[in-house]
Amino acid sequence: MIKNASLRQLKVFEAVARNLSYTRAAEELFTTQPTVSIQLKQLTDLVGQPLLEQVGKKIYLTDIGKELFKVCNEIFEELSRFEMLVSDVKGVKAGKLRLTVITTAKYFVPRLLGLFCPRYPGIDVSLEVTNRERILQRIADNMDDLYVLGQPPEHVDMVAEPFLENPMVVLAAANHPLAGKKNVRLERLAEELFVLRESGSGTRLATEKFFSEHGIKLKVRMELGSNEAIKQAVAGGLGITVLSAHTLALERSIDALTILDVKGFPLRRHWYLAYHNTKGLSVVAKTFLEFMRVESKLLGEKYLMSISGFPSKDNPSSKKKL
Ligand code: PGA
Repeated sequence: MIKNASLRQLKVFEAVARNLSYTRAAEELFTTQPTVSIQLKQLTDLVGQPLLEQVGKKIYLTDIGKELFKVCNEIFEELSRFEMLVSDVKGVKAGKLRLTVITTAKYFVPRLLGLFCPRYPGIDVSLEVTNRERILQRIADNMDDLYVLGQPPEHVDMVAEPFLENPMVVLAAANHPLAGKKNVRLERLAEELFVLRESGSGTRLATEKFFSEHGIKLKVRMELGSNEAIKQAVAGGLGITVLSAHTLALERSIDALTILDVKGFPLRRHWYLAYHNTKGLSVVAKTFLEFMRVESKLLGEKYLMSISGFPSKDNPSSKKKL
């Protein structure tokens, strides 16, 4: 009977199921691979059904294994929620915060964490950075406490608070013929070749939605899975692109890129802090949410204005070479 399983066995199974690797699970739990195998064998005997199967060198969860993985996540989540509650009663904010953010937010969220972590040394933050498609999968699998993303999912019961502007701009190589031109028409852009993010990316989705709403089909020369790689390709003259202005935050290739002055741009978007509506927020997640509400307001505007070449409200003519 599974009720006879020990927490240790469930912990070992959870680590193997999450990593899909005995070696990584053993490393994570500071134990050996044979110990992991023995614990898993005992757990499998208790369940009476295989939990994992091996095909070639890869291991997969069986359907029963997937169900047990979900149960493990629930058990460990409840336990860590309890732990946080105890810390809170003791007057210390302590526990684990699992945060997953969209790739464009990686330019901003770590800065806020840089302020948050020293203020709450008892909170242990794990930060995952990924694209929209994978964030949606993590939301469906209930993997994290909080998410930062550019567009809340439509068919999931979530609370989503906008917390910071996430404007999108058209970027070209500094020596592009449209550089410095005023009010470029969208039809003119349609003649250009684009270097775009992979499908499944929120940036790509927002870009295509905008252009298709204006009846324009983009000519895609290349798809790349990273904002950084796209900036390099654009600087190298392979095409133009649409990216979040935040991706320019740490831009060093000062002379290589320019923001084009295109009608309808920057696209006004926001980042949202989102969490499952049905899942009560842990003490730690609430602390982080409060912190983000206050600090992002203080830091956000200043931060966007510091992005060289971004047309600010106060200085609409600040378009220039980056
Ligand atoms: P992406 O999403 O990283 O999947 O492109 C960014 C966003 O939606 O702002």
